[in-house]
Amino acid sequence: MITVKNLKKTYPGKVPTPALKGLSFIVQSGEFIALTGRSGSGKSTLLHQLGLLDNPTEGNIMIDQTDVLALSDTKKTFYRLTSLGYVFQEYALVAEFTALENVLLPAMALGNHNDQKERAKELLSLVGLEERLNYYPNELSGGQQQRVAIARALINHPKILFADEPTANLDTASSKTVLDIFLKLNKEEKLTIIMVTHEPDYAKLAQRNIELLDGLIIKDKKQ
Ligand SMILES: Nc1ncnc2c1ncn2[C@@H]1O[C@H](COP(=O)(O)OP(=O)(O)O)[C@@H](O)[C@H]1O
Ligand SMILES: [Mg+2]
Repeated sequence: MITVKNLKKTYPGKVPTPALKGLSFIVQSGEFIALTGRSGSGKSTLLHQLGLLDNPTEGNIMIDQTDVLALSDTKKTFYRLTSLGYVFQEYALVAEFTALENVLLPAMALGNHNDQKERAKELLSLVGLEERLNYYPNELSGGQQQRVAIARALINHPKILFADEPTANLDTASSKTVLDIFLKLNKEEKLTIIMVTHEPDYAKLAQRNIELLDGLIIKDKKQ
């Protein structure tokens, strides 16, 4: 469960930008949430704060029993690596590494990649890439690269998956494949998923829709 209280983020600068203006909500374990709202409404900023990739200006985030903003930097890094998974619009694979090596990267950071090789292969099968283990990113389509990125996000058994416009660069068929994988992970593994999307049809697949406008929640409803 994620409990967010009065979350604010103002980007400093000559003219400070208040990107999040005080958000409070609760995410139950196993929920699949679509985060929507027009460009500049604060979706990525919210994902960055929840994903511990940035420090909010004010507010509180509890994940299960952990006051995550109170963790030291070292503990925060460890928490990110072991409990949170990320999928971004632009895949962010390492070009010099094969699909299998890319999936193993977060396990490498924990020093247990040798034990995780079988899991990495299983995850690549789960995303339909069992035949592409030794391909490099530039030998894969955008959709295939995104599926490698999903497998990589899952290698350390996260409890929450954050996805920021994961289908924005993909064609319709690849987008459907990615969404099917998310739905399957949510249903079968009870993975909590928070996905930013611009596509109303994709947002409808989630159980709940949170919509932002100008740094505030303007809609939060089960669907
Ligand atoms: N690193 C940053 N520095 C300054 N302003 C930022 C930064 N990132 C985002 N913003 C601003 O914060 C607001 C919300 O941006 P963002 O969270 O990226 O919105 P969305 O993902 O919904 O398009 C926008 O006004 C944007 O210009
Ligand atoms: Mg964004």
